[in-house]
Amino acid sequence: MDILVIGGGGREHAIVRKLKESPRAGKLYCAPGNGGIARDAECVPISAMDIPAVVAFAKEKKVGLVFVAPDDPLAAGMVDALEKEGIPAFGPRANAAVIEASKVFSKDLMKRYHIPTAQYEVFSNPEEAAAYIEKNNRYPIVVKADGLALGKGVLICQNLEEARAALKEIMEDRVFGASGSRVVVEEFLTGPEVSVLAFTDGHTIKPMVSSKDHKRALDNDQGLNTGGMGTVSPNPYYTEEMAEQCMKTIFLPTIEAMKKEGRPFKGCLYFGLMLTPDGPKVIEYNARFGDPETQVVLPRLKTDLLDIVMAVVEERLEDQPIQWSQEACACVVMASGGYPGHYEKGLPIEGLEENGQVEGAVVYHAGTVCKDGKFLTNGGRVLGVTALGDTLEEALGKAYQAVEKIHWQGVHYRKDIGRTK
Ligand code: AMP
Ligand code: GLY
Repeated sequence: MDILVIGGGGREHAIVRKLKESPRAGKLYCAPGNGGIARDAECVPISAMDIPAVVAFAKEKKVGLVFVAPDDPLAAGMVDALEKEGIPAFGPRANAAVIEASKVFSKDLMKRYHIPTAQYEVFSNPEEAAAYIEKNNRYPIVVKADGLALGKGVLICQNLEEARAALKEIMEDRVFGASGSRVVVEEFLTGPEVSVLAFTDGHTIKPMVSSKDHKRALDNDQGLNTGGMGTVSPNPYYTEEMAEQCMKTIFLPTIEAMKKEGRPFKGCLYFGLMLTPDGPKVIEYNARFGDPETQVVLPRLKTDLLDIVMAVVEERLEDQPIQWSQEACACVVMASGGYPGHYEKGLPIEGLEENGQVEGAVVYHAGTVCKDGKFLTNGGRVLGVTALGDTLEEALGKAYQAVEKIHWQGVHYRKDIGRTK
């Protein structure tokens, strides 16, 4: 079966590599892919948001599966468009991808179906939001843009002044575009954060092994929020009992809720959880694999990913066994100097072998191009250096050893992945 993967980051590189292991996989295409993905798949210069071009390419090449990885084409209805043409596609339809694309939708869903989450109010008027925050008088308070904002639409405010500034940024200056027409103002929760990705075909849900993301740019959780600076799996805080409790109070109720709403969710549903003193609560849903969570979860998958994906697409996940390795996995993201703010592109990366890899680890390329056989930086997050080990310590040791071999001007990475809450 020939396969087209949509997207071009580290997550997509991990997906491509895993699909490639399948004996059933034929030719692999990736749109648009990147310099490193090009070593594992044929990259096609089609934007991940160009729905008509993706549909046309999939038809022309008669691919048996399109795997839509990023959030925006899912929210824009890429899966709906492919299905209309009879092309099997992995990912939720637009009416289910809204669980990520609108925080107002997801918060209201959780309230209606009693799924534990932070208390909140929704506002479309900044004055009313500010008045509420002033009256509530509890800090920190969390202000979130309703729509997709590249993971940056969440502002944690320590006082009324900061909250007013956040409301102005989101609702008046529209820093996150149209996604700022409404805001969710929500209670600040505390506790360790856990990411749980789950396969679901709309009826059955099978959670993957847990992981932990490190979202802040700098060591000791300092600096700005990023897309994710590194991950480990399993998450040390996520016990068996916690997994059972989450299944009962969060995972199953969410799948049931989406079904009842006439929005069955098929694909990978991502639960961003916080283990609060009052039990696990949902911080956010994503309608897709996480990045860089995928980079530490998929290497632990023992079952053929293509078998699972087709079981999801064909709604027979219940009968599909899924096995995981007991090993631990760690991913250290190497980023451009300045990320998540302004950064330079086109800097030569030293230390990678000809195939874009290094000895002792797997290097998932997130933002690279390959010119004349040389890899250059081409994004904020550039590489995800990943290793498996019998223990988390061993995996981290191997990943950091490999990181030491790679360098470019201004490169920065966190030295404390796997070591902070
Ligand atoms: P999100 O984009 O919704 O995942 O939010 C980004 C980050 O903001 C999360 O990973 C949390 O660390 C933090 N955050 C979001 N909502 C809350 C909340 N209600 N209480 C505390 N921290 C939060
Ligand atoms: N790593 C967080 C995300 O993919 O949204």
